[in-house]
Amino acid sequence: MKTAFEVNGKTHRILINDPRPVVNFDFKGSEEDGRFAKELGIELSEEKNSLTVTKPLGIDEHIFGLGEKAFELDRRRTRTVMWNTDAYGYRWGTDPLYVSVPFFISLSEGKAIGFFFNSPAKLVFDFGVSRYDRITVTIPHSDLEMFIFEGPTIEEVLERYTDLTGKPLDPPLWAFGYHASRYSYFPQDYVIAMIKRHKDEGIDVSAIYLDIDYMDKYKDFTWGDNFPDPKRMIEEAHGMGTKVITIVDHAIKADQSYEAFLSGLGHFCELEDGNIYLDRMWPGTCAFPDFFNKACRDWWGDEITKWTKQGIDGIWLDMNEPATLTQEHDFRGPVLHALDDGRKLRHELVRNAYPYYEAMATYEALRGIFEKPFVLSRAGYAGIQKYAMIWTGDNSSTEEAVPLQLSLVLSLSISGIPFVGCDLGGFAGRSNPSLVLKYYRAALFFPLYRNHKEKTGNDQEPFNLYNEEEVKEAINVRNKFLPYIYSLARETHETGHPIVRPLLYEFQDDPKTYGILDEYMVGSGLLYAPQMYGESRKVYLPKGKWADLWTCKVFEGPTWVDVNNPYPIFIRYGSIIPMDGEVRAFGSGKIKLYDGFEVSYDGNVWSAPPKLKRIAVDLDGSCKSA
Ligand code: GLC
Repeated sequence: MKTAFEVNGKTHRILINDPRPVVNFDFKGSEEDGRFAKELGIELSEEKNSLTVTKPLGIDEHIFGLGEKAFELDRRRTRTVMWNTDAYGYRWGTDPLYVSVPFFISLSEGKAIGFFFNSPAKLVFDFGVSRYDRITVTIPHSDLEMFIFEGPTIEEVLERYTDLTGKPLDPPLWAFGYHASRYSYFPQDYVIAMIKRHKDEGIDVSAIYLDIDYMDKYKDFTWGDNFPDPKRMIEEAHGMGTKVITIVDHAIKADQSYEAFLSGLGHFCELEDGNIYLDRMWPGTCAFPDFFNKACRDWWGDEITKWTKQGIDGIWLDMNEPATLTQEHDFRGPVLHALDDGRKLRHELVRNAYPYYEAMATYEALRGIFEKPFVLSRAGYAGIQKYAMIWTGDNSSTEEAVPLQLSLVLSLSISGIPFVGCDLGGFAGRSNPSLVLKYYRAALFFPLYRNHKEKTGNDQEPFNLYNEEEVKEAINVRNKFLPYIYSLARETHETGHPIVRPLLYEFQDDPKTYGILDEYMVGSGLLYAPQMYGESRKVYLPKGKWADLWTCKVFEGPTWVDVNNPYPIFIRYGSIIPMDGEVRAFGSGKIKLYDGFEVSYDGNVWSAPPKLKRIAVDLDGSCKSA
């Protein structure tokens, strides 16, 4: 086995044998002697066509990251596989799910270190299961590029990881508004009626989604008979302030009379014998674009551009693990992918990067139309944050699924993928009003806030629920904070810092936070503890001073407090929170607003855009308006 070690600042690269990564991230380092990896206790071994990387797992070492994994945030005692999977109705412990991020953060003695294994193959991560005192990563090939990021904070690790794999995209403001979706709203008049119906109830829908039934027999880039005048429909939606997003699946119907199939010939995945790989998806027998090479991405980009130019505002990429509708849900047979460098590699060596390249092609096409493209993807690989937002796929309408969404979204957030959300109310199965409300409350600050439901599910739009007023209240509370969320989105785009953060991200020295899943930070300035159990709950406030956003009551952490208001939100000392029409401050601080304004407060002196009402919390717990 051959090894080489390189360093650039606090990022280290280890090259084992002769890696030619399927996804290339730009790194220029100078040689080092390998002592750094050695001191961490990293050991490498090679067997026929596979590698094993191990490292000690300390008694007080905790592991976070790896993206979308249906476990507690701390990955100790889990064994998990990287294999993008269509996981309809998944539950706690279902593994793997849709997104694969082979990057984890180890936290030991207050110090964070990141590890990234740049391979889209089926990697297996074992954190103290097969060997109680070791982390073992198994790689099914004999060449590997791996990175180690020094901290010492989780935030610095994440900054370095996103310096390498890319800073998150810069979504438009409307991406953070309230989104309505259903499998499927049709015909076209019904789409418009749906937006109106929300409006009548006082709910502004900033985007509506068209699921597969808009198409002609599920063929991408076509309109079916139910949409006789899409141009008019889009204009009507735009007239009500609503953007229109269409789903686009990865599969192209193999049909000699279908334009996209004919224009795509030469760009589809092939079998070893040179024939096009065909398998079953919504339209029947389909071919699958081979996004790994630029010629295919250019063709796809042209199709996306033509399609979007009809007035569509964003693209929703689905089933892109890639999934099929076969029993296996996977590609079957010896599929080869043609890479940009001329290599042809077997599917199992590259699979997890399929959505990465599809999202790249889609995003780059939209960049030709919009300043800030909107792409939503179900599957992903490390680096997809540059191109797409992610939703957590086909979650369930069950009580246990609500905290699970928190775990998935918070974990994606600290794995470099910050623009995330889940289907509010749950996609799979039938929901009830109290469950839907729990979803709306739990996800209050999730970057993507979209209700979506499967075809045979019940109607779960707010106006179909007996507790509509409470669900509307959740939407209104969220909307109040849009200026803060959107300001954070700018920070996210520039730095990689996530919008929603598990407590441990901000308080890594406090081990109590490692197991807390039912509270999260929004930026560094707000702590939110959703009411998920009933109308009251206990809230953990870590070290420092906190002010209840609604009552201005001040608390000194670490402490547990009982809260019985429906939206337990606390401002952290030293923070400024821009809200709709007002700003709130506690202590002294400064925040940049998305539109270039800056707000600062030093306890007495305000500087803020003139139209904002200003409220400051004093240390005695009183609210002061200025
Ligand atoms: C998949 C998606 C879901 C969508 C459905 C039909 O299950 O995850 O969101 O509604 O396909 O397109």
